[in-house]
Amino acid sequence: MSKYLVTGGCGFIGSNFILHLLAKNPSARVINLDKLTYAGNPENLSDVSGDDRYRFVQGDICDAALVSELMPEADYVVHFAAETHVDRSLMEPGSFIQTDVFGTYTLLEAARQSPRLKRFLHVSTDEVYGEVLPTDAASTETDPFLPRSPYSASKAGGEMQCRAYVSTYELPVVIARPANNVGPRQHIEKFVPLCTTNALCDEPLPIYGDGQQVRDRLFVEDHCEALDLLLHEGEPGEAYNIGADNQRTNLEVAEFILDLLEKPRSLIRFVEDRAGHDRGYYLNSGKIRSLGWSPSHDFKATIEKTVDWYLQNPLWWEPVRDARFAEYYQQQYGKRLAEARPYTG
Ligand code: NAD
Ligand code: DAU
Repeated sequence: MSKYLVTGGCGFIGSNFILHLLAKNPSARVINLDKLTYAGNPENLSDVSGDDRYRFVQGDICDAALVSELMPEADYVVHFAAETHVDRSLMEPGSFIQTDVFGTYTLLEAARQSPRLKRFLHVSTDEVYGEVLPTDAASTETDPFLPRSPYSASKAGGEMQCRAYVSTYELPVVIARPANNVGPRQHIEKFVPLCTTNALCDEPLPIYGDGQQVRDRLFVEDHCEALDLLLHEGEPGEAYNIGADNQRTNLEVAEFILDLLEKPRSLIRFVEDRAGHDRGYYLNSGKIRSLGWSPSHDFKATIEKTVDWYLQNPLWWEPVRDARFAEYYQQQYGKRLAEARPYTG
């Protein structure tokens, strides 16, 4: 029986990972430490809330006393908890530094006192490499960090702490650098669910700048498989890119979603760009592929499955479009949409 301490398990990827782990491994035991910020939704784990193998602890990864209490129970740590939305990091960077850097340090400090721990899997991001253009070589794990947003700088800071704990304390940390995930239960502030739910409500889809920015869309279940593999086959001290080679522009993604839902492309609006917007990310994922992982979902399957999940689950996303979200939406998009350029095909 293996015990997992998962942080941020009520969020998008964390909840998918816990469901994946408990379905695949009957003897696994999971403690989910989550603060339940605006991004955490206990509903994401309603399917396992009564399962004896699952325990939820509401708390902050920056709380050293709580983390030290939970850590000795764990064979594995899977660290997802973070502030994750780039746009919010432009509005308010402080909470990103607090959680993504200081919170990671707090977990590492407790982990180094825990001889039982077999692996600490730190979930970083492809954004630590900074902007990559189609004409550049794809990022490899030894490339330098050139983060350009408060979010990616905070993630880079957390990851740097991990690397220091490997060299200094021989902590068995493995680092994942995944691409842009999509799939069930992603918060509707993120691009694909925002486009999907806005289209379902016949509301405009805000596209930043010219919409030609490129992201690699990785289906979250493929990501969970990769993380599971790294927990057991990843080398301590090593980082692993996780990409699906499903690159598309944001405009192509929005058009594809509208076509799938049989909604008019005229719902697209070009709005003021994100400050410091990275034009693209490209990962060379040869290292994890050499361990035997490859994604099962191409671009089409990734978006189709995701859109279908939102279509089938209005009871999940309609309550998230609440007054708190409306306030955020107004702040983020009110002026932008008032000054938007229309879609001309
Ligand atoms: P999310 O925003 O959906 O969920 C984050 C979760 O962390 C929430 O449940 C929130 O309540 C919790 N949390 C936040 N601060 C906390 C704190 N101080 N203490 C305890 N819990 C806290 O995030 P996500 O999209 O699932 O991302 C998970 C991880 O994967 C993050 O580390 C993110 O940087 C990384 N990542 C995400 C993507 C992506 O496309 N979503 C891609 C690459 C890497
Ligand atoms: O690449 C990995 C990263 O992917 C993760 O580390 C982050 O946690 C995760 O949020 C995601 O970051 P992005 O900035 O790529 O995701 P987001 O969904 O916010 O935006 C995707 C693209 O869509 C990006 O180029 C910005 C653009 N966009 C986004 C929003 C919200 C728009 O054009 N309009 C929008 O309204």
